[in-house]
Amino acid sequence: MRHTHATAALAAAALAAATLAAQQPAPARGQGPPGAERPRRPEEPYFDPAAVERGQKLLVERCGFCHGSNARGGSQGSDLTRSPIVQEDENGKQLGEFLKVGRPERNMPKFELTEQELQDLAAFLHQTIYLISNRGTYKILDIVTGDAKAGAAYFSGAGGCNTCHSPEGDLKGVGSKYEPVVLQQRFLMPRGGGGWPGQGGRRMPAYLQPTAIKAKVSLPEGESVSGALVRLTAFDVTIYDAAAGQLRSWLRKDGVPEVVLTDPLQAHIDLWRKWTDADIHNMTAYLVTLR
Ligand code: HEC
Ligand code: HEC
Repeated sequence: MRHTHATAALAAAALAAATLAAQQPAPARGQGPPGAERPRRPEEPYFDPAAVERGQKLLVERCGFCHGSNARGGSQGSDLTRSPIVQEDENGKQLGEFLKVGRPERNMPKFELTEQELQDLAAFLHQTIYLISNRGTYKILDIVTGDAKAGAAYFSGAGGCNTCHSPEGDLKGVGSKYEPVVLQQRFLMPRGGGGWPGQGGRRMPAYLQPTAIKAKVSLPEGESVSGALVRLTAFDVTIYDAAAGQLRSWLRKDGVPEVVLTDPLQAHIDLWRKWTDADIHNMTAYLVTLR
């Protein structure tokens, strides 16, 4: 499955899943994930593969940034497969009610999604929960379905990744450093990092990480102080001054002192609007080859 085209491979995997569920004979060209040929148990639910695929795309685009591109938890959001709201959801209904409001005070934004989008999202989440709870009986959708060559071309072409990274330099061995799912999450949103499986589960405060957002505070006396951003509101700003090894805070009023932010990961955030599904799959396929 590794080097086939993303859509074909996804379709094949989805088809295999659908086939299992519908208890039809395997299609002649069916190449589902290993083990997919296992006969279906009668209680296996049916997930519309087209809805699941749309739901997955939506999740990567709208929620993946915080909850991880596979919904299993990311740098800023929880594992959605363990959420009671998701688990008890029926066809997007409860999920939709929650999303309409969100929890803005706890950094969960609200989303206005159409009924169709909610149903797709629910189909993907419910299938993911189902596959996880049946782990070992057959494999979770293989995410390495892209075309590594196309990924390499994107890396030094349209993606412009080579302006900051090199496959022989900083990204050497990245394919063995992370599981493919984590690797995909890393290039979609490299912020965070602490707490990933295999990294000891440590979580450093964001402002101590190399990818912390930088803040430059211009004091009224003309002096300016730079450091990693800890907190910024209309009323105060706190930065971490690495040279002094301490936190520094100022009260703010009417935008004074002025604070200018720069994000070392801005390129990745900009990419976030550009990626197509195929680009993402191809890039994952390429990066796993960097061993
Ligand atoms: C900016 C980051 C961010 C984005 C984007 C985001 N979430 Fe969240 N989400 C969070 C955080 C943080 C929480 C935890 C809130 C809390 O602690 O109560 C959360 C909580 C949730 C919960 C509740 C979990 C529970 O049972 O308590 C659900 C469901 C959820 N998000 C779904 C989604 C979906 C679906 C999307 C995309 C349409 C999405 N989120 C996008 C940050 C985000
Ligand atoms: C303008 C510079 C810039 C560009 C362009 C850029 N990145 Fe990054 N990338 C970064 C920075 C900064 C980090 C964070 C490095 C760190 O955490 O030490 C990063 C992190 C990563 C990581 C995580 C590495 C790790 O070990 O966790 C991957 C994978 C990655 N980028 C892939 C890509 C890909 C693929 C592209 C192109 C589609 C790309 N980057 C484009 C600057 C860039």
